[in-house]
Amino acid sequence: MDFIKGISEAIAKAADLDINDVKDSIEIPKQGMGDYAFPCFKLAKILRKSPQMIASDIAEKIEKPSFTADIQAVNAYINFYVDKSVFAENVLSNINKKGREYINSDLGNGKTIVIDYSSPNIAKPFHIGHLRSTAIGNSLYKIYKALGYKVVGINHLGDWGTQFGKLIVAYKLWGDKEAVERDDIKELSRIYVKFHEEAENKPELNDEARTWLVKMQEGDDEALSLWKWFCEISMKEFNRIYNRLGITFDSYAGESFYNDKMEAVVEEIKEKNLLTESQGAQIVDLEEYKMPPCLILRSDGGTLYPTRDISAAIYRKNTYDFDKCIYVTALDQNLHFAQWFKVIELMGYDWAKDLVHTPFGLVSLGDGKLSTRKGHVVLMEDILNMSVEKTKNIIEEKNPNLENKDKVAEEVGIGAIIFDDLFNSRIKNVVFDFDRMLNFDGETGPYAQYTHARASSIIKKAGIEKIEDNIDYSILCDDTSFNVCKAINDFPDKIKEAAEKNEPYIVARQIIEVCKAFNKFYNENNIMNSEEDVKMARLAIVFAVRDILAAGLDLLGIKAPEQM
Ligand code: ARG
Repeated sequence: MDFIKGISEAIAKAADLDINDVKDSIEIPKQGMGDYAFPCFKLAKILRKSPQMIASDIAEKIEKPSFTADIQAVNAYINFYVDKSVFAENVLSNINKKGREYINSDLGNGKTIVIDYSSPNIAKPFHIGHLRSTAIGNSLYKIYKALGYKVVGINHLGDWGTQFGKLIVAYKLWGDKEAVERDDIKELSRIYVKFHEEAENKPELNDEARTWLVKMQEGDDEALSLWKWFCEISMKEFNRIYNRLGITFDSYAGESFYNDKMEAVVEEIKEKNLLTESQGAQIVDLEEYKMPPCLILRSDGGTLYPTRDISAAIYRKNTYDFDKCIYVTALDQNLHFAQWFKVIELMGYDWAKDLVHTPFGLVSLGDGKLSTRKGHVVLMEDILNMSVEKTKNIIEEKNPNLENKDKVAEEVGIGAIIFDDLFNSRIKNVVFDFDRMLNFDGETGPYAQYTHARASSIIKKAGIEKIEDNIDYSILCDDTSFNVCKAINDFPDKIKEAAEKNEPYIVARQIIEVCKAFNKFYNENNIMNSEEDVKMARLAIVFAVRDILAAGLDLLGIKAPEQM
């Protein structure tokens, strides 16, 4: 039930106002000031009366909605106290009927969202910076899906460009087939790093690399088969990680996918009189918009990262007819996106406004416990393993008899990393710290998973499948029950807000709200040893919490084990 709507209707009627204006002003006050409040300051100007007077006038005239227990005018506010039992009945009967689907809505029906995320570079390691794009993108994917949008998840793999010319040269000079097959990306990045070191003294290596890139572009067999092999080796590693994270994509059309589509796009940019020459290269001048030029063609005719992004956007618009196309990358790519979004706009495409860059901050390694030898990046897989290992130790200590220890450690260890990544606004830098993210009593993934497991185990003990219609909700009139219901009731709005702002942390934080409220409820109320009707009413809360947490964690891409 939409309590805000009910209250707004009553106020609108009593004060002869437009319901939408009222609705936008309703506030959720601090504890003890009612559950909802309507401030009268704005009305004071229109009605030429003091806000205090207006508040008491309206409070006198208003028809009390059935779900409110009390309405009070306090200074310039009208405070509404919800009838806790009616509230509990509304929220709990709804969620216990729908289960996990409680969070779903049809808000986005008929609309399509494309999300470009993860998008690692072939032949380069999947490092912890890529985790952020992967985790944020995957969560946005699930959030939009829950809201009824059609969502297309695209892994825009970095599978074309200068690095391949270099890699081919490096492989031919220092590579070894067996070593690559054994150590996959580690070996590829070793020879790639070596290339850069050697090229400092031997610049002719760079010329050779360019030659190989040109060969690739011309379809040379040897060049292309090496390129393909590098791609396969990389994908093997990426897929191992995606499997562990439980992530799939609808499309893996990477940069190379646009090779045969760019010529027409460059031609179109030229026809629209946007292309100019600068030092041999072809650019779109953006001085008027206070940005450096957008590079379209290199002096040797080679295409560039922006050329591929422009072509990809046009292709996606034609293929998916998106309402929004979201790009999840690090903040340092801000200028790149601003530039080519502008080019799309200058090409006359009104959907340029539907392209959204969703940047995020850096990951750093905090106290250095994770740092490896200089010059080496920290690999995602090593981090996952470390977290799972540490989780296993915690389980050994806390619950050594747990069934499926390895599976639970995997789900909790990985969940901890994802939750920590998603718990703050995207743009904030993340400092990696296992002690924080694995703290079962903190605002963490394990804490949320543990709360879910606690609810699951109560349900298992109770031995019932579902909540029937005959609950006496008047039993749930205490504050702790009410606060759980409130946190659940607010959940769907938080999901909408998360989508509006492309901020999964709004969901992560609401999960913690539910957990805190539930754990307080659990500590203050006996469930299993209560009278039958009290027990059943309280179990209605337990069921609701289990389902909202499972559904909520899934929105973040985190598993919810039943036992921990
Ligand atoms: N491969 C790029 C990187 O690792 C990210 C690509 C993001 N997506 C895009 N369409 N530009 O930095």
